[in-house]
Amino acid sequence: MGKIFSSATVLIGLLHTILCSMSATAIAADDGSFELSDGNCTALAPGDLVHMEHVHKLAIPFMEREATVKWYGDGRIYCVLVTSYIRDTRSTVKLLDGGAGHSFVILELHSSRGYGFEYQVRIFGKTEMT
Ligand SMILES: *[C@@H]1O[C@H](CO)[C@@H](O)[C@H](O)[C@H]1NC(C)=O
Repeated sequence: MGKIFSSATVLIGLLHTILCSMSATAIAADDGSFELSDGNCTALAPGDLVHMEHVHKLAIPFMEREATVKWYGDGRIYCVLVTSYIRDTRSTVKLLDGGAGHSFVILELHSSRGYGFEYQVRIFGKTEMT
C-alpha cells in the first residue's frame, strides 16, 4: 500500500516537472507583447507617417503563424506602433532590432497554435535635414 502511494507521488511529481518545464518553454518562446508602442507616441503628426503596413496571416489548424517585418528608411524614427485589428490576445509582436532613435525597424509577429493574426504597423519619423 505504501509502495503504491509513493510511486503515485513520484508520478505526480514527474508530471508536475514536465508540465512546468513545458509552460516555461512556452513563455520563453513567446516573450513579445500583444501590441507594441516603441518611442514617443504621444504627439503623432500625420505628416511624419513614413511607413504603414497591414500584416495578415490566416489561422491554420494546429499551426503557429509567423511574420517578420523589416523596414529601412533614411530619417530618425520616433515612434513605432503595432496595433491588432483582432481583439483576442493570442498573438504577440516583438521588436527585434531598430525602432525609435534608429532609421530601421525589424519586428517579429507570432500567433498561437491554430490562430492567425492581423496587425497594422505604423512608423513615424523625421527626415533629418543636414
Ligand atoms: C514627446 O514628443 C512631444 C512632441 O515632440 C514632446 O512635446 C514631449 O515632450 C515628448 N515626450 C517625451 C516623454 O519625450
